[in-house]
Amino acid sequence: MAVERTLVLCKPDAVRRGLCGEIVSRFEQRGFQIRGARLLKVSKALGQQHYAEHKARPFFGELVSFISSGPVLALALEGESAISVVRTMMGATNPADSAPGTIRGDLALELAENVIHGSDSKASAKRELALFFPDGLV
Ligand code: RTP
Ligand code: MG
Repeated sequence: MAVERTLVLCKPDAVRRGLCGEIVSRFEQRGFQIRGARLLKVSKALGQQHYAEHKARPFFGELVSFISSGPVLALALEGESAISVVRTMMGATNPADSAPGTIRGDLALELAENVIHGSDSKASAKRELALFFPDGLV
């Protein structure tokens, strides 16, 4: 048990569909503190860095194109066990398998457009927060 910080991205589909308020609201209601919030257009270079772990996968090009296809809302969230709790709230990667009540399970249907990203480990959280909040957090 420990207070952690994690990176959430409301992906371009979430911004386009006007779902950011719903997503932020769920995290606030759960008890997370917002330590950073930034609306930005992800460059190809940032998208490639962010998803570097998937570089060798056949869908890497599509993944980077999608994350840089429009503005994302980047959030730095803080709270008890934030990394795993956020992942649980997000639901399974493929929304077709995401449980109802999760963000993907309630708001998405397609694997490529699954509305939200959350860091998957302490190391990822540290790396990704530095990428999206290079000036640090509040
Ligand atoms: P994310 O990184 O976006 O938070 O998603 P995740 O951890 O749940 O899933 P991850 O394995 O990291 O995959 C990153 C994104 O790649 C897309 N994907 N496509 N075509 C495929 O087989 C495939 N597998 C994954 C998904 O959009 C996923 O969010
Ligand atoms: Mg991932």
